[in-house]
Amino acid sequence: MPSLQPVGPGIWIADGEHVSVAGFHYPTRMALVRLTGGGLFIWSPTALSSALQAEVNALGDVHFIVAPNSLHHLFIPQWQAAYPAAKTIAAPGLAAHRKDIAFTTELGETPDAAWANDIDQAVVHGNAITTEVVFFHRASGTALFTDLLQNFRPGTFKGWRGLVAKLDRMTADEPQVLQKFRVAFTDRKAARLSIRRVLDWPVQSVLMAHGPIVEKDAAAFLKRAFSWLKV
Ligand SMILES: [Fe+2]
Repeated sequence: MPSLQPVGPGIWIADGEHVSVAGFHYPTRMALVRLTGGGLFIWSPTALSSALQAEVNALGDVHFIVAPNSLHHLFIPQWQAAYPAAKTIAAPGLAAHRKDIAFTTELGETPDAAWANDIDQAVVHGNAITTEVVFFHRASGTALFTDLLQNFRPGTFKGWRGLVAKLDRMTADEPQVLQKFRVAFTDRKAARLSIRRVLDWPVQSVLMAHGPIVEKDAAAFLKRAFSWLKV
């Protein structure tokens, strides 16, 4: 089975290896967008196997390697080594955390001219855990969330971890902003302004690094997912 799966016009996902954080094993997912000019935009890269690399190369040249929040950086060096001509773009705050990685620049409030035709972005402010940048792929109507929305199948975590996961809303009926992230939104006003930008997009599909793709009533789902913020 190929590593890359198309999920809309000009957008693919690849499900990567599990990573372990505090004993919780997370499935990982990356996305790849082919920009109108032909270059590839790699979002939240997972481990780069030779099979995945061959599929990526068949789609075009990697122009951008993007870390959309300060938590998703593990595989950036691997991609940089494979694609030395690509630009590596960091979420706000990540460069200070990973001084060993040479980033080209940091994600800002507005999309870079090189991808603005294809992808919009919104920096989500006000969270003490991480400042995540949410993207919107226009052609497919896909919003790309890294950790702000997550969902795991019940039974993913065993024993006490299962209980913690339930309390943290990780195994709820549909993807949620986890409890730890809700608590970490210490500047609600800033968060509201950021999320309103996300809710303004004509979203048809919601993709996340840890969870299912939501295609059914995606805009209504997103509104529901952030209703607790009173946006
Ligand atoms: Fe994550």
